[in-house]
Amino acid sequence: MAAKLQAPRGTFDVLPADGRRRAALARASDELLGRAGYEPFESPVFEDTEVFARGVGEATDIVRKEMFSFEDKAGRSLTLRPEGTAGACRAYVEHGMHKLPQPVKLRYWGPFFRHEAPQAGRYRQFTQIGAEALGSDDPSLDAEIVLLLVELLEAVGARDLRVRLSSLGTPETREAYLLELGAYLREHESELSEDVRGRLDSNPLRAFDADHAGTRAVMEGAPRLLDRLGADDAEHFAGVRALLDDSGLSYEVDTTLVRGLDYYTRTVFEVESGALGAQNALGGGGRYDRLVERLGGPDTPGVGFAAGVERILLATEAEAEPGAGGVFVAVSEPGAARSAFALARQLRERGVRVQLEQAGRSLKGQLKQADRIGARATVIVGGQIEVKDMGTGQQMQAAGPEEALALVESTLES
Ligand code: HAM
Repeated sequence: MAAKLQAPRGTFDVLPADGRRRAALARASDELLGRAGYEPFESPVFEDTEVFARGVGEATDIVRKEMFSFEDKAGRSLTLRPEGTAGACRAYVEHGMHKLPQPVKLRYWGPFFRHEAPQAGRYRQFTQIGAEALGSDDPSLDAEIVLLLVELLEAVGARDLRVRLSSLGTPETREAYLLELGAYLREHESELSEDVRGRLDSNPLRAFDADHAGTRAVMEGAPRLLDRLGADDAEHFAGVRALLDDSGLSYEVDTTLVRGLDYYTRTVFEVESGALGAQNALGGGGRYDRLVERLGGPDTPGVGFAAGVERILLATEAEAEPGAGGVFVAVSEPGAARSAFALARQLRERGVRVQLEQAGRSLKGQLKQADRIGARATVIVGGQIEVKDMGTGQQMQAAGPEEALALVESTLES
C-alpha cells in the first residue's frame, strides 16, 4: 500500500461541522462590518517580500523568523502574507485610493501564514477577519474599530473577554522614549534575559513582553511610554477613551501592551479570552499613521484590527450539531430514479433543503437515512408518490408530482 499523506505541520483541514461554524462566523462579520461601511477587500496571498519587510518591520519576530519566503522563477523574493495590513496599504497606494472619499473602509477574511511552533490556537496557516479604515485620523475610527471587534466577538459568543488598550504616540516621541528605555535597560543589563539583551538596540519594547522573571522585575520600574506622549497624542488618546467610555465598554489601559508589529502609532489594543490557554489573544490592532508613506504612498493615517478565526471558535461554545432537516426523497423502485431526481430539483428551486437517495440503499435503508439526517418529510417515489410526515408518521398519497410538492410544503409548514 502507498504511504499515507498528511496535511503539513501546523495546518489543518476544515471538516463540515467546523465549516458550518466558520460560515456562520463569516456571515456575522460581513453583516456587522458591512453595517459600519467596511467594504469587501481581497489582496493576493503572496506579495513581494519587501511589502512585509518594510511594512511589518525588519526587527519584528514575524519578519526575522516567521515568514514563508520563496523565490519565483525569475528570482524575485515573494512571501506568503503573515498579516493583512501591509497588503491593504500597498493596494491603497497602487490604486490611488487617496483620491476616493476618505476614509476608505475595507474588510477581509482569508488565510495567513506564519512559521511558528504549532500549539493549541497557533498554526502555520490560520484565518483572519480584518478591518482597516484608511485616510482619516479621527479618534472615532479608533473607537469604532475597537468596538466592532468586541461586538463581533460578543455576537458569536466568545467567552470571558478582556480588552487592553494603550497609545504608542508618534514615531518621534517613541524614538526619544526608546532612548530613555534603552538607557534604563542598559543600567540593568545583567538582570535581563539573553533574548532581551540580544535586541536592546533593535526592539527594546519587547522587554515588556518577556516571561523571564529577572526581566519582569526590571520592567516593573521601567519608564512608560504613555507618560511621555506629546500633547496631540495625549489628546487623541483621550478622545478615543471618551468615546469608548460613552459606549459602556469595559477595558483596561495597559501601558505594557506591546504588539508584534512595528507599524503602530497612537492607539493599540488587544482582546483576549480567559477561556483559552497561552495563545489567548483573539484579536488586536491599532493605528498606523506612517505605514502608507513607508510603502511609498502619500502621508495617510489608518487604523484597523484583525482577529483569528480559529481562536474565536476555540473560545466559543460549539452549538449542538443542527439536524439538516428538510426533505429526503426516496426511491422505491429503480424505474422511478429519474422522477425522484426531477422532484428533488423542483423542491430545491422552491427553496427547500433536499437530499436524495444516491447510494443504492434498500427502501428500509433509505427511511433510516431520512431519520439520520433529521428530515421533516420523506417523499417516496415509485409507481405512486407518497409523502410521509416524519413528525407524526402520517403517510399521504399524491396524485402526481404537483400534488406531492404541495403536500411537502404543507408538511414543512405544519
Ligand atoms: P496580530 O495581532 O499579529 O495582528 O494578529 C491578529 C490575530 O490573528 C491574533 O490576535 C490571533 O488571533 C491571530 N493569529 C496570529 N497569529 C496566529 C497563528 N499563528 N495561529 C493562529 N492565529 C493567529 C495583525 O495581524 C495586524 N495586521 C492587525 C491589524 C490590522 N492592525 C491594524 N490593522
